[in-house]
Amino acid sequence: MKIEYKKDLKDVFKLDDKQVYIIDSNIYTIYKQLFQSIKNKSRIFIYEANEHTKNYDSLQKIYSFLYTNSINRSNIIYGIGGGITTDIAAFSASTYKRGCRLILIPTTLLGMVDASIGGKTGINYNNIKNGVGSFYIAEKVIINTKFLESLSETEYKNGFVEIVKMSFLPQSDLLSSLAEQQGIEAIIKEAIRTKLELTHIDLHDKSSRRLLNLGHTFGHILESVSNYDISHGTAVAIGIRAAAKLSFQKGFVTREVLEVIERRLDKYALPTSFNSKYLPEILRIGKSILKQDKKADDKYNLVLFNGIQNLTIYKTDEDLEVINVLREFADV
Ligand SMILES: NC(=O)c1ccc[n+]([C@@H]2O[C@H](COP(=O)([O-])OP(=O)(O)OC[C@H]3O[C@@H](n4cnc5c(N)ncnc54)[C@H](O)[C@@H]3O)[C@@H](O)[C@H]2O)c1
Repeated sequence: MKIEYKKDLKDVFKLDDKQVYIIDSNIYTIYKQLFQSIKNKSRIFIYEANEHTKNYDSLQKIYSFLYTNSINRSNIIYGIGGGITTDIAAFSASTYKRGCRLILIPTTLLGMVDASIGGKTGINYNNIKNGVGSFYIAEKVIINTKFLESLSETEYKNGFVEIVKMSFLPQSDLLSSLAEQQGIEAIIKEAIRTKLELTHIDLHDKSSRRLLNLGHTFGHILESVSNYDISHGTAVAIGIRAAAKLSFQKGFVTREVLEVIERRLDKYALPTSFNSKYLPEILRIGKSILKQDKKADDKYNLVLFNGIQNLTIYKTDEDLEVINVLREFADV
């Protein structure tokens, strides 16, 4: 996978009628003039991206769009937008005609540091986030931080949480990038380098790549019970706090280490609690959400702390252990 960094938006968009473009509807509206070089508008699929449309219905519409445009394996499918758009565009590219060429242009911070990197594609299935998907690496990812200028604060924070999460990985030098207040492009580069280091060793998520799931098992419960009203970033931030707390409770880390982790999360003003109105639902369906999170075997692979920049996979089938620690983060 090649990663290109572009300074100007016009450098990103040398787009023509030969390829097809799956574009987030907000990006198409905000940056409309950038798509003017695509004369044949039937080559554009405008996608209203949210977790509810990241589904089989939208995928079918995309397949039909690819069919109508007579796309074959030599054509390039562009996915332009946040992580939802790049995930579904990449999944369609990986499955249509058994695999078409794919270029991703992420437009959110989360998309730049995470979703477009490392080859995971997917759609949601029933209540399972990314329940259907594949591993398919884009031939190119084009990063242009100018897109971030139109991103809402909430969405920016969603991406920033993933950056802070990656700073806890042993492979990462993000802590110094953040401390030195390097510009966002330098921080993005280091986050991508960190993620690629793990995905190169373990593309199929069988071992070390799982460390990237820090905070996500807890986070998925919060996203699901709130029907995605709790944003991904908030859910993962609380998930990292829950992972740190459980690591302390299990004696994996000392109180001092727990406090260092908490201070790092506080320093970047990452969320500390969720609305307690979601508690009954967590108690009611938390177990079944967890069950769906068992990706590879009969146990949950919880990412816990063994130290500040030292993570471990803790295998457990104790639902209550997970649910109880999460309860501690309900606001009062
Ligand atoms: N494949 C992976 O490895 C991977 C990793 C992490 C997350 N993900 C997936 O990514 C998704 C979340 O991605 P996301 O946070 O980018 O959300 P998103 O795609 O929903 O984008 C967030 C919102 O921002 C808007 N938007 C996008 N770019 C914008 C811009 N430049 N200016 C203004 N608005 C803009 C979108 O229209 C949307 O409303 C989840 O579905 C998650 O499962 C995938």
